[in-house]
Amino acid sequence: VKIFVPIDAAALSVGAEGVAQAILREAQARGVAIELVRNGSRGMLWLEPLVEVATGEGRIAYGPVAARDVAGLFEAGFLSGGAHALRLGVTEELDWMKRQQRLTFARIGVIDPLSLADYRTHGGLAGLKAALAMTGGAIVETVKASGLRGRGGAGFPTGIKWRTVHDAQAEQKYIVCNADEGDSGTFADRMLMEGDPFLLIEGMAIAAVAVGATKGFIYLRSEYPHAHRSLRRAILKAENAGILGDSVLGSGHAFHVEVRLGAGAYICGEETSLLESLEGKRALVRAKPPLPALQGLFGKPTVVNNVLSFAAVPWILQHGAKAYADYGMGRSRGTLPVQLGGNVRRGGLIELAFGISLREIIEDMGGGTLSGRPIRAVQVGGPLGAYLTAAQLDVAMDYEALAAIKAMLGHGGIVVFDDTVDMARQARFAFAFCAKESCGKCTPCRIGAVRGVEVMDRIIAGTERPKNIAVLRDLNRLMTEASLCAMGGLTPMPVMSALNHFSEDFDRPVAALAAE
Ligand code: NAI
Ligand code: SF4
Repeated sequence: VKIFVPIDAAALSVGAEGVAQAILREAQARGVAIELVRNGSRGMLWLEPLVEVATGEGRIAYGPVAARDVAGLFEAGFLSGGAHALRLGVTEELDWMKRQQRLTFARIGVIDPLSLADYRTHGGLAGLKAALAMTGGAIVETVKASGLRGRGGAGFPTGIKWRTVHDAQAEQKYIVCNADEGDSGTFADRMLMEGDPFLLIEGMAIAAVAVGATKGFIYLRSEYPHAHRSLRRAILKAENAGILGDSVLGSGHAFHVEVRLGAGAYICGEETSLLESLEGKRALVRAKPPLPALQGLFGKPTVVNNVLSFAAVPWILQHGAKAYADYGMGRSRGTLPVQLGGNVRRGGLIELAFGISLREIIEDMGGGTLSGRPIRAVQVGGPLGAYLTAAQLDVAMDYEALAAIKAMLGHGGIVVFDDTVDMARQARFAFAFCAKESCGKCTPCRIGAVRGVEVMDRIIAGTERPKNIAVLRDLNRLMTEASLCAMGGLTPMPVMSALNHFSEDFDRPVAALAAE
C-alpha cells in the first residue's frame, strides 16, 4: 500500500514528520507492508498534515491528521480507504482541487519530488526534449506566443525578455532564477521548489538552450532550508542523469546550475540588487538601463526570471503556445498560482486561469474569514500591494483589471483582514517595512520611508491631522515618482489605498485610540 505524507515545510510545521513516523511505527507493529512516499503539498494548507492512501478508487485523503490519530486510522482500515472522521474523499474530487486548472502545479503533491522516474512518468522532460529539437529562436517565439508574463510581479512578457538575451552577442550568458520570494503572504515558489524541483531545473534548462547560456544560478532565500535541500539533491540527480552538465540530454548544449543563498534582505528580490549579491557585493540596486538582459550578472546578458515563470515553460513547450494562451483573459494568458492567506478559513495554493474574481477566490474557495467577522480589507500583491475594500472584490485576477483600480497582482499573494484591522496602522507598517528593507541608495526611499513613519505616528496620535495628511500625500507622490526601484516606488501603493479607501481610520477620535 502506498501512503503519502507531505514533506512540504508548511505540512512539517504542523507535525507531518511526527505523522509519518507514527505511520511507519504502526505499520511495523501490525506487520503490514507499506510504502511511505513523502510528497509535496496539495496546497490545502488548512488540512495539513494531509495523508493520502492509494486505492483502486484513486487516492483517498485524510486530514488534518495528528500523530495521535494514526492508530485509529489503521483501526478504521484507512489502508483500503476505510471510513473515519478525518476521511475527506478522493483527493482529485475535492472541491478545492476540482475547481483549479493546475498546469504548473500539476505534479505537486502527486509525485515524490526527488524521484526522476516519477517525474518522467508524469510528463517531466517532455518540454525540454521538445525544445532540444528546436532552434533557440523558435523556442523564444513559442514562449512569446504563449503570452507568458513574468510571474515575479511585474508581468513583463517572458518571450520578449528572452528575445533580448537571445539576440545579444556575448561569449558568456547566464540564467538566473529569482527564488528570493520575499513578499508577505506568498509561498508558491517555495512549494514548487519543495514539491517539484525538477520542473524548475527543466524550465531553466529550456531558457538556457533558448538564449545560449551555459551557466545558471538559483538565488534562494535562506529562510527556505527545505527548498534548499530539495534543490541541491535534485540538481545532483539531474547532473547524474545527464539532464544538466556538459551535454543536456546528449544534445551538445552545456548547462550547469548552482544554488546560492541570500541572507535575509527583501531588496535582494529586486533583480539588480540580486545580481550584486550574486557577485558577492552588498545588494545595492543598480540603475536601469542597462537592463540585466543586456548587462546582467558579471556584466553579461542574463535572463532573470522568477521561479514560477521558469516553471510555466516546460508545459508550454510540451503542449504548445496556443494551448497555454487558451487559458486566461485579455493580456493575462495562462494560469496564475494564487496564494491565499491571512484571516481566511481555507488558505493555500490555488492555480487558476486569469480572470476569476477575487470574491470567488476568497469567499467560495477560502470560505470567508477564519474569525467569522466581515471582511474589511484585502491586500493583493505582497507588502507593496494595494488594500482593497470588500466592495472591490469583484475585480478580476488580471494584471490590467487590477492596475485600473490602482492595485497590482504582483506575485499572486492575497491576504485577508476582518473588520478589526486598523488601516492607519497598516499604512504605518508599509513605511516601517520600507525603512527597514530599503537598500539606502536613493533619498526618496531611504529618507522618505522614515519620514513616512513619523507622519503616520503624528496622524495616529491626532496631531494636526489635516496638515499631516497633506504631507503624507505629498511624500507619497515624491516616493512614487522619484524612487530608483519598486521598493520605494511602490510603498505608497498600500499607504494611499489605505488612506483613500479607509479614510475613517485616519480620523479616529484620539480618545478611542488611547483606550486601546
Ligand atoms: P520592471 O517593470 O522594471 O521590470 C520587469 C522585468 O522586465 C525586469 O526583469 C526587467 O529587466 C525586464 N525588462 C524590462 N524591459 C525589458 C526589455 N526591453 N527587454 C528585456 N527585459 C526587459 O519591474 P521590476 O522592478 O523588476 O519588478 C517590480 C515588481 O516586482 C513589482 O511590480 C512587484 O510586484 C514585484 N515584487 C515581487 C516580489 C516577490 O517576492 N516576488 C517582492 C517585491 C516586488
Ligand atoms: Fe534602494 Fe529604496 Fe532606492 Fe530602491 S527605492 S534603490 S530600495 S533606496
